[in-house]
Amino acid sequence: MKIKTICCIGAGYVGGPTMAVIAQQCSHIKVTVVDLNASRIAAWNDADLNKLPVFEPGLDKVVGEARGRNLFFSTDVDQAIDEADMIFISVNTPTKTYGKGKGMAADLKYIELCARQIASVSKSNKIVVEKSTLPVRTASAIKNILDHTGNGVEFQILSNPEFLAEGTAIEDLLSPDRVLIGGDTSDKGQEAIQALVDVYANWVPKERILTTNVWSSELSKLTANAFLAQRVSSINSISALCEKTGADVNEVAKAIGLDSRIGSKFLKSSVGFGGSCFQKDILNLVYIAKTYGLNEVADYWEQVIIMNDYQKNRFSNNIVSTLYNTVSGKKITFLGWAFKKDTNDTRESAAIQVADNLLNEQAHIEVYDPKVSEERMYADLDYLNTRTEAENRALLKVLKDPYQACKESHAIAVLTEWDEFKTYDWQRIYNNMLKPAFVFDGRGILDTKALEKIGFVCYSIGKGSK
Ligand code: NAD
Ligand code: UGA
Repeated sequence: MKIKTICCIGAGYVGGPTMAVIAQQCSHIKVTVVDLNASRIAAWNDADLNKLPVFEPGLDKVVGEARGRNLFFSTDVDQAIDEADMIFISVNTPTKTYGKGKGMAADLKYIELCARQIASVSKSNKIVVEKSTLPVRTASAIKNILDHTGNGVEFQILSNPEFLAEGTAIEDLLSPDRVLIGGDTSDKGQEAIQALVDVYANWVPKERILTTNVWSSELSKLTANAFLAQRVSSINSISALCEKTGADVNEVAKAIGLDSRIGSKFLKSSVGFGGSCFQKDILNLVYIAKTYGLNEVADYWEQVIIMNDYQKNRFSNNIVSTLYNTVSGKKITFLGWAFKKDTNDTRESAAIQVADNLLNEQAHIEVYDPKVSEERMYADLDYLNTRTEAENRALLKVLKDPYQACKESHAIAVLTEWDEFKTYDWQRIYNNMLKPAFVFDGRGILDTKALEKIGFVCYSIGKGSK
């Protein structure tokens, strides 16, 4: 089967960039990305490519090339489903906030809604692709809903998890380490797999396209994120030990990373991992393990989250204790709010937890982030429900100029590794700060030796002072 039309439900951080790249690479396929959120779709259609709802280096160029040619963004979900040979489900799968599995299991209500809508609208056979990250065995639930439509349409369900990282999404999509496609072992299942392989084969070398059964594919996605997050928690646990012993975590990371069995990537110690997926996917893995009575497996992976929470709290506690055990009424500047550089996404960003802790101590925070909007930052804080909205606005201010944000501040905390922070005129910043002037580098990106020469008192994550 040759795919001519694709529909993707969900125009978020995954659906938007993924489909833009498929459309750019496969000009013979019509790709329509749909979403219930009309303002998001309007932003994807904005003539000004700087106003796309997702900031990703290179995304503007890809969208600019394909949009209007064979890439479309629309709110008409039914029409796009009806027209499509292949439907990607790329909606959000957040952690459940209610009922059974609250705080751990993935909330599959958006997935189920999509399946029901596909079932009710489809008049011809379709391949349905799970692009969202889902618990292992979700495909059987989707299949169950789709198989009971009563209108004789046949569906094949594939799992095709996405491995892109934000900030490098376009690079990752254009040149993926692998593309994973899971499908049914029946002949029709294999045909469906082949149809999706053929789409990717337009630009991905065949040897990087891996096919498996559906369950392996679903579980591989959760496992990949769990292993990646585990590395960050592992090096962060060592960062605490480094600070006590005088070792330098960057040196330790380099020394162990040169062992080819360990590898050098994902060993950067930080104030804690954030992002929409690591925590949610590990909690989901823990929940699944518990469901099967595998309590030791569940406890093992839960420790990755416990260590991450510890790291965020350790960072804010260190700020309070260094500033003579009180930050009440003191101005602290945050450089960065996004969960990593080169994205405007703030979901689960360490900055939110660190800010919450310091605001509880009545600190005054001024934030500068090159890409995150003021509304987003307040929404992140309001969502925690720790303080009233008015209190958050009184205690935390958002500035558009980093020098202004640092002026008359007691301390600067680096929460995101934006490259521009390294290029600032740190002498000028120092001159305008209250003394002693502190820098708490939660990302280990600044040249602390140079800062100390200027007169700053520096803390850099995982660097011992002895
Ligand atoms: P997102 O919240 O940015 O986007 C999801 C979109 O789906 C939203 O715009 C929402 O309005 C829309 N939506 C929800 N229900 C809908 C429905 N019934 N009909 C139409 N639209 C609907 O989420 P995201 O970051 O793109 O993540 C999507 C999935 O991909 C998640 O399962 C996530 O775990 C997974 N994932 C995310 C990343 C990432 O980097 N963000 C990477 C790999 C995998
Ligand atoms: C991660 C995975 O890397 C992707 O493969 C996956 O597709 C995605 O999750 C997902 O499923 O959503 P992402 O969260 O976008 O991608 O970004 P990462 O580069 O993985 O960073 C996650 C967090 O870990 C960030 O806060 C980052 O600063 C932190 N991190 C990463 C470290 O603290 N140290 C490191 O060495 C690497």
